Amino acid sequence: MTIEQALRRHPLPRLESRMLLMHAWPGLSHATIVGYPERELAEDIAMVFDALAARRLAGEPMAYLLGVREFYGRDFAVSPAVLIPRPETEHLIEQALSRLDAAQPARVVDLGTGSGIIAVTLALQAPQWRVSAVDLSAEALEVASGNAAALGAQVDFRHGSWFDPLAPDDRFELIVSNPPYIERGDRHLGEGDLRFEPRGALTDEVDGLACLREIAAGAPARLLPAGWLMVEHGYDQGAAVRGLFCAAGLLQVETIRDLAGQDRITIGQKRAD
Ligand SMILES: C[S@@+](CC[C@H](N)C(=O)[O-])C[C@H]1O[C@@H](n2cnc3c(N)ncnc32)[C@H](O)[C@@H]1O
Repeated sequence: MTIEQALRRHPLPRLESRMLLMHAWPGLSHATIVGYPERELAEDIAMVFDALAARRLAGEPMAYLLGVREFYGRDFAVSPAVLIPRPETEHLIEQALSRLDAAQPARVVDLGTGSGIIAVTLALQAPQWRVSAVDLSAEALEVASGNAAALGAQVDFRHGSWFDPLAPDDRFELIVSNPPYIERGDRHLGEGDLRFEPRGALTDEVDGLACLREIAAGAPARLLPAGWLMVEHGYDQGAAVRGLFCAAGLLQVETIRDLAGQDRITIGQKRAD
């Protein structure tokens, strides 16, 4: 079977089928696919490709099939144990880097690190910062620590719930989190990529605000004076999260919109004294 015949066997978008074929055939380039479509596929490669295409047609996300997703210009390994990195989360990185001086030492913790994209990216963008990362999922922490090692980032990973695994006297200039914020019963949980992502990364199984409530309430005791809390949340949760931040006594509370113009990130600062 030729490359062209293999690609035609599955009714997938052309780019997706080419990416899956390149994944099945290490060393195959996009230029070869386009320039030499008459090249023959080895039988074992055709079988791997057919299996990947069948999984894609059944809805499995490309990121899980390829095992990788780009975030902030770097490739992160992903598996079904972690949320697939979203481009919106880059706003958290930009906020962190714009509110804290990357050239000065600072202590940072990423709560619910998943694949480690936030912690690893901050550790690489601001090598002076000491970055910790927490997750309830041991499987996610394995993926995250693999990413830190592969990308050469120093991150202190902790297993447990939110602030629990931190030392009692740990205090931070920055607490950052993209927690589960979809409410139980939201129809999106049964649609698209979300069907394949870990449920514990998506929903708090309550009203969508349970994790955000816990993080906002716990943050002031863990922030240094003038330290920042920054969280990602749903497009319709901006007002509620600002309320949680204000109730926790944080100042300069502000919601930042994503590129689609939707409320996406809320930030707040602890008093300076
Ligand atoms: C929305 S995902 C975010 C993953 C990653 N930070 C990102 O932005 O792609 C939320 C993460 O929070 C973790 N998580 C859920 N409940 C937690 C808890 N009580 N304590 C710590 N982590 C928790 C999940 O395992 C998941 O990895």
